[in-house]
Amino acid sequence: MEKLVVTGPTPLKGEVVISGAKNAAVALLPATLLIDGVCTIENLPNISDIKISCEILEKLGAKITWNNKNSITIDTTNITTTTAPLDLTSKFRASYYIIGAMLGRKGEIEVGMPGGCKLGARPIDQHIKGFEMLGATVNLDRGTIYAKADKLKGAPVYMDIVSVGATINVMLSAVLAEGTTTIDNAAKEPHIVDVANFLNTMGADIRGAGTDVIKINGVKKLHGNATYSVVPDQIEAGTFMLAAVATRGDLTLKNCITKHLESITAKIVEVGGNVEDYGDSIRVWCDKRPSGANIKTLPYPGFPTDLQPQMGVVLSMANGTSRINESIWDSRFQYTQELNKMGAKITAEGKNAFFEGVEKLHGAPVYSSDLRAGAALVVAGTAAEGVTEIYNLEHIDRGYENIEEKFRKIGAKIERVTE
Ligand code: EPZ
Repeated sequence: MEKLVVTGPTPLKGEVVISGAKNAAVALLPATLLIDGVCTIENLPNISDIKISCEILEKLGAKITWNNKNSITIDTTNITTTTAPLDLTSKFRASYYIIGAMLGRKGEIEVGMPGGCKLGARPIDQHIKGFEMLGATVNLDRGTIYAKADKLKGAPVYMDIVSVGATINVMLSAVLAEGTTTIDNAAKEPHIVDVANFLNTMGADIRGAGTDVIKINGVKKLHGNATYSVVPDQIEAGTFMLAAVATRGDLTLKNCITKHLESITAKIVEVGGNVEDYGDSIRVWCDKRPSGANIKTLPYPGFPTDLQPQMGVVLSMANGTSRINESIWDSRFQYTQELNKMGAKITAEGKNAFFEGVEKLHGAPVYSSDLRAGAALVVAGTAAEGVTEIYNLEHIDRGYENIEEKFRKIGAKIERVTE
């Protein structure tokens, strides 16, 4: 069993280069199934979710060449099966994008129910509703999804809730459909714009991504023959911004889009941190104890749920009381029990967590319950006094490239140890 051993406290100082966005990359890879040809994707984060995505694509017939650890060339000319490997698709959430892409490419797919972080109920009814509006039939039987369409036809799709996954999935299924699809009440996250930009680079006709109405005019074919670079990771950047505040450090983040970080910047300034915005890089520093604040997680451009646990670490040590209202997921406060083992005073009740700020956290053995909870514990361990041992690293490795190396470069005393 592996664990991260962090000895703190260390004010993190220096530069971090932000990787490509996990939640964009896990959609771009299935999107290549719509291309009858070859394309190159660069700035891919080197994380386990990407490795599994590549394995799934290879099992479907794609040929993948790794140009370096962050770039692949992928040939999807010959897709040889419409059955996705159930053991691999159940390992992560974004495997649901295989459905939209394969409906578009082959009109058929059999795939296991997606896995991923356990954050409460994670239904896919809005994805299914969208596919059905375009003419597909979707059946679920003992954990397997069977989707089929003789011919997909563009249609208006209204999302009952704002869903990142359903917006991207319906967009994927509509790219090669006959006629025009509109997605109303679409999600607006940076990764949605990135998937649309990627598909447009390959010959699709998608307009309005990043607003709440997306219009997709179906095209006959995507041509490939292009190189695309994945958008910088908003959540990795936000994690380091909050790490700078939690450890009272001074970090400059390179390769980020600061426009995507505005809600985080606003909260950092509110709690007393400092931010200098250079457009494609950002400096964050904090030289005093942050003050308490209230946060509500919301779809983009609101404060992201995927940074809620990292913000929770800052608020656990703030001067005063704070409240976080988690409006996206039912079960995203599991990390608060771990922070309490480190001396925090947090009470989680349903969708709210109440923080009574303590002056210091102390090291303890802690367990990451999901990806962002794990990242939050790394931040907490760096800010805390003494030794923190973090277990269940498989969650962290799904979404952060070389987390310990990036933290070590900015001064953290962190080691990966095999027990
Ligand atoms: C994406 O999940 C991200 N994952 C999540 O990041 C992120 O937390 C979430 O969006 C919200 O930003 C990926 O991109 C792979 P949703 P997704 O569909 O698409 C409900 C991380 O740590 N809903 O936007 O699965 C749902 O239950 C992960 O990187 C339905 O009711 O999220 C939730 O309450 C964790 N029916 C809300 O909508 C549906 O059909 C938003 O979910 C779909 C969703």
